[in-house]
Amino acid sequence: MFSTKLLRWFRKAKRPLPWRTEPRDPYRTWISEVMLQQTRVDVVIPYYQRFLNRFPTLQSLARAPLDDVLALWSGLGYYRRARNLHKAARAAQNGLPATAHELRALPGFGPYTAAAVASLAHNEDVALVDGNVARVLARVFRLEGDARAKSWKIAEELLPRGHAGEFNEALMELGATVCTPRAPNCTNCTIRMSCLGRDTPERFPEPKKRPDRPLLEWKAVALRRRDGAILLARRPPDSLFAGMWDLPMSDPGARLPKWPGVRVRGRLEDRGVVAQTLTHREVRVAIRAGHASGAPKTDSLKWVAPNDLHQLGLSSLARKSLRKAGIAC
Ligand code: ADE
Repeated sequence: MFSTKLLRWFRKAKRPLPWRTEPRDPYRTWISEVMLQQTRVDVVIPYYQRFLNRFPTLQSLARAPLDDVLALWSGLGYYRRARNLHKAARAAQNGLPATAHELRALPGFGPYTAAAVASLAHNEDVALVDGNVARVLARVFRLEGDARAKSWKIAEELLPRGHAGEFNEALMELGATVCTPRAPNCTNCTIRMSCLGRDTPERFPEPKKRPDRPLLEWKAVALRRRDGAILLARRPPDSLFAGMWDLPMSDPGARLPKWPGVRVRGRLEDRGVVAQTLTHREVRVAIRAGHASGAPKTDSLKWVAPNDLHQLGLSSLARKSLRKAGIAC
């Protein structure tokens, strides 16, 4: 039977990942599952370890300033995940609830995250679907069209009661290590005899039409003070990379603004353009560099010594911009 074979395979083949310690801890499960959304295991591991060292418990995360959380998330992308993690920790200081239904009430807990924590850490009988699960099920059942939407119902039907945690993780593991997007290893797959897609796995799931990505063009300046400090700006709450630190910028398509209290000395030099493709947008930042002095009259601007850059929540794009301006970070 499909689920029996899958569970037997998983018990032998599962990777020894740092969050897979028994008994499963709900807090650690939560952090790892949030990090693993949209990010590969090998990228997540060092972030997970640093995060757990700094915030070993739900209470320590709740007590921490948001800036410290964003700093540890710097480079992982999708920074809303970190802001929601912090909000949820504050909302649930006495402990995370144990059921998917209650977890859904916390910030950042969608159907996937709630089901992952409830099933992996508490063995609640709830199904889940992520990209890996949707791909496995699309192949096993030759699902046409939107595999993700159809997979939730199928995953619920397949769920072996009493083994939900193991089953959910086994499906994800199979998708990550055997039923991979390209060149899946069907010959060694434990469920190949149940798989309708095994002769043409690459036809499933059907590719989604790529959404058009609007192009955002920003202008940024790297301003240095005589002591080498760099002027940084906090991104506004409703913007892309909200709350993260970056070079001061113009609005998309607009000219550079003036910053009260900051005096630019001399001319700005062009340093070229950095680009980053995000899920829904293409961003290009034209970098100019120069010198400045003065004391900014707002909390959203500050001078930062080069040695302190690693303590800040900088996006990967902000790091690229700083490097383009000749500042190591
Ligand atoms: N991807 C996301 N969560 C996972 C997990 N718990 N095991 C394997 N792959 C995953």
